[in-house]
Amino acid sequence: MQVDAVILVGGLGTRLRPLTLSAPKPMLPTAGVPFLAHLLSRIRASGIEHVLLATSYQAAIFTDYFGDGRRFGLEIEYLHEDTPMGTGGAIRNAAEHLRFDTTLVFNGDSLSGVDLRALLDYHAESAADVTVSLATVSDPAAYGCVVTDHRGRVTAFLEKSPNPPGNQINAGLYALRRPVLAAIPAGRPVSLEREVLPQLIGSGTPVFGYAGDSYWRDIGQPSDFVAASADLVRGIAPSAALPGPPGEAMILGGAAVDDLAKIGGGTTVGAAAVIESGAIVDGCVLFEGARISAGAIVRRSVLGFGARVGRGAHLEDAVLGDRSSVGVGVELLAGARVWPDVVLADHSVRFSSDT
Ligand code: GDD
Ligand code: MG
Repeated sequence: MQVDAVILVGGLGTRLRPLTLSAPKPMLPTAGVPFLAHLLSRIRASGIEHVLLATSYQAAIFTDYFGDGRRFGLEIEYLHEDTPMGTGGAIRNAAEHLRFDTTLVFNGDSLSGVDLRALLDYHAESAADVTVSLATVSDPAAYGCVVTDHRGRVTAFLEKSPNPPGNQINAGLYALRRPVLAAIPAGRPVSLEREVLPQLIGSGTPVFGYAGDSYWRDIGQPSDFVAASADLVRGIAPSAALPGPPGEAMILGGAAVDDLAKIGGGTTVGAAAVIESGAIVDGCVLFEGARISAGAIVRRSVLGFGARVGRGAHLEDAVLGDRSSVGVGVELLAGARVWPDVVLADHSVRFSSDT
């Protein structure tokens, strides 16, 4: 297809720390492969071949894994910002590398089922300079709120507004005509959401919203990251990059799950990870080499590379940094985060009282 794809992957992933201390957010293992592999599979399936990755933070991790893209049926070029140039600046950097008149720009951290061809058709038919893909959420203040008129034309774009006027938000995917990209100021950080889009709308440039009713989720915070991974494993979120058939759990090569452990809810058990007898593991992501000991209960949590959970421990909505160790009987709930290499002694942390 005669369309370039630009993927913004230069953010620090602050809200996913400590997981993003060792890898950028789009490279975190999700349903068995780096998150970005799912997005690339959808781009490839739409017929787009030329992809520009706009990197900054830990760029080498992308190049090492995806290389020139041939293994994924794509031609991947890398752009690099020594200091992050913002979403608009990153897109501006891509301008000289485009081959076609239409560009699709993706935030590298959203998981979407939107029909890319249908979005491009809508973009062409509405003669828009910019088409913003839309989603509906219950907490629009955390996103860019997009107001449209009855024809779908965008009348206001309010990034992270404390009192947004509706639930319709920017899904982090745009179709742009080439002159719009080239007109973004070069050489300084620019925010697409806070600067470029409000200016275009204010000056009467045709900006339209495309509201498909497909799956959508931003993986920027731990609760969404685990939910997105579970949805991929279960086949609720579409991807052509799943390493196995969809189901209640994905167990990667070399992992050992005891017959008397109960795993489900879209859990991914990474390579060489271990789950012992009697453990209950529900809706979790275990990176490579993680270990859950006998009788532990772990729900909706992420275990970083080589992280360990001791016997009888109880984790809900927790994030364990790489190689951290949670002792016997420890209880971690409600968004608790353990930093890499930290060791929590046996029985050292509780959220509940003795009964
Ligand atoms: N290259 C580059 N340079 N990429 C960047 C930069 C930068 O300076 N800053 C952010 N990015 C990338 C991030 O890596 C991420 O993939 C994407 O741009 C969006 O940045 P986030 O930091 O995740 O933004 P957000 O989630 O708070 O808000 C954005 O996404 C929402 C949808 O998920 C905005 O676009 C909102 O309007 C939108 O609703
Ligand atoms: Mg985000």
